[in-house]
Amino acid sequence: MIQHDVVVVGGGLSGLRAAIAAHDGGLDAAVISQVYPVRSHSCAAQGGINAALANAEGSQDDTPELHAYDTVKGSDFLADQDAVETMTNMAPGIIYEMEHWGVPFSRLASGKIAQRPFGGAGYPRTCYAADKTGRFLLHTMFEQVLKRGIKVYSEWYILSLVVDGGTCRGAVARHMPTGELQAFCAKAVVFGTGGYGQVYAHSTNTLINSGSGMAEAYRAGVPLKDMEFVQFHPTTIIGTNILMTEGARGEGGYLVNAKGDRFMKNYAAKVMELAPRDMVSRAIQIEINEGRGFDNSYVHLDLRHLGAQKILERLPEIRDHCIHFLGIDPIKSPIPIQPGQHYSMGGIDCNADGETQMPGLFAAGECSCVSVHGANRLGGNSLLETIVFGKRAGAKLVQYVKGGQFRDTGGLFNEAVRESEARVEALFRGTGAEEPPAIRAEMKEVMFSKVGIFREGKAMREALGKVKELQERCRRLRPIRGGRVFNLDLVRAHELPGMLDLAEAITAGAIAREESRGSHSRLDFKVRDDLGWMKHTMAYYSPSGPELSYKNVSITKWQPEERKY
Ligand code: FUM
Repeated sequence: MIQHDVVVVGGGLSGLRAAIAAHDGGLDAAVISQVYPVRSHSCAAQGGINAALANAEGSQDDTPELHAYDTVKGSDFLADQDAVETMTNMAPGIIYEMEHWGVPFSRLASGKIAQRPFGGAGYPRTCYAADKTGRFLLHTMFEQVLKRGIKVYSEWYILSLVVDGGTCRGAVARHMPTGELQAFCAKAVVFGTGGYGQVYAHSTNTLINSGSGMAEAYRAGVPLKDMEFVQFHPTTIIGTNILMTEGARGEGGYLVNAKGDRFMKNYAAKVMELAPRDMVSRAIQIEINEGRGFDNSYVHLDLRHLGAQKILERLPEIRDHCIHFLGIDPIKSPIPIQPGQHYSMGGIDCNADGETQMPGLFAAGECSCVSVHGANRLGGNSLLETIVFGKRAGAKLVQYVKGGQFRDTGGLFNEAVRESEARVEALFRGTGAEEPPAIRAEMKEVMFSKVGIFREGKAMREALGKVKELQERCRRLRPIRGGRVFNLDLVRAHELPGMLDLAEAITAGAIAREESRGSHSRLDFKVRDDLGWMKHTMAYYSPSGPELSYKNVSITKWQPEERKY
């Protein structure tokens, strides 16, 4: 058995930041990560991180309070306003801390950190490092982890939480390169496990984004919040759905349909391409659905008028992606794009200090729901959320853990390892002939087509029926192929039931919510209903499906108003 005061699960920005804060507060913190940390999905964030620094020309009046208002409005008034203010007030300090740790932010001629416009923001507020902001933040954060000598267990994945009398005491994890199982005994566990993008077809998310942390917490009795709110990024490469950063539109890129029209004038005439993501994604999908797209499947993101110099300096990564994955150079040709699943506004219910409803279990970043994004997240607030709430969770851990004891009542950890081992062996033996990749593919397709950008009760009920059928089939999987070493067939089969649980929670929440708000756009309930639905959805696990209840939204300064751009 391995012991650390704090075990952080997830090597992305939120997990690493929590580990650093816990370490700096005097704790022995360790990180468990499915991949070497610099390959975590935070690395894929391109366009930037928001903070009201007021550096860009014309933005001298920007403040954290205006940042908070834009975030609340962008969330379609479902975000908890006190938590949003906590985030936006901490944002400038977070940026300067990352700058001092070495992030090579792009600069203005004055030497100040450059900021670009992003959707739904009143001022250019998004600090960036070309279009590789997440990567630079992640690498810099990891340097800080290495500098402190924080122990990192790379290529381990979690099989189960260890819970004793309702308190989280640690986890069981499997080392992918050897197949070894280990119990990690801790005084607290932090999940920074990221989103569940792989539950959907056409996602910008990497393969590791299976929502494993959310699913594990949910099964252990911790509620998930606002799972029906799924973000679709407007601009992803046709086919592969690789992200084409919002920064491309922030720098002045156009969206153009097959008739040559900059169609955003018909949807958000004032801000055009820089409307919030939910609106731009819907607009693109309407253009495609109504026959004004190319090949009934995409529109163009046109950067040609920006000129080669700007593209090479500010958008080099997406240019590379276009060259490698499409065979086109955006300096010379428009980019064929379509909306793709990108982010989960919902997640493990927790407060602004990362505390979940289970003592000893904390959460931060995309796997969590504080909630600062409500029904729709603004671009650039995700990187911010990871660092702000990772840091806060780490600080809270210091209070929680100090004086706490390691507990292994009645051979708890041996028993947990035995149970996990038995589950792994059962997967190797198999009980039927069902193909895990086929179940996964059917889940992804039904979620994209029936619980996607536009939703409707009948289709979503069909999707729920399909998910339940897949859950049933998932009990009869064929034996795992291959050996014990780095067996991805095993990992994918292990995570599949959890992904189906999440698909079920998303769909059940979406069916119940009879209104349209933010990313949840129902064709059968077209308007926002503040009287009936200004509330968070809480989903509790039960073997027969999620049990839903509701929780008030925290409204402090800003009364709900119609969202106009
Ligand atoms: O478009 C982007 O660069 C993505 C940013 C984000 O999701 O915040």
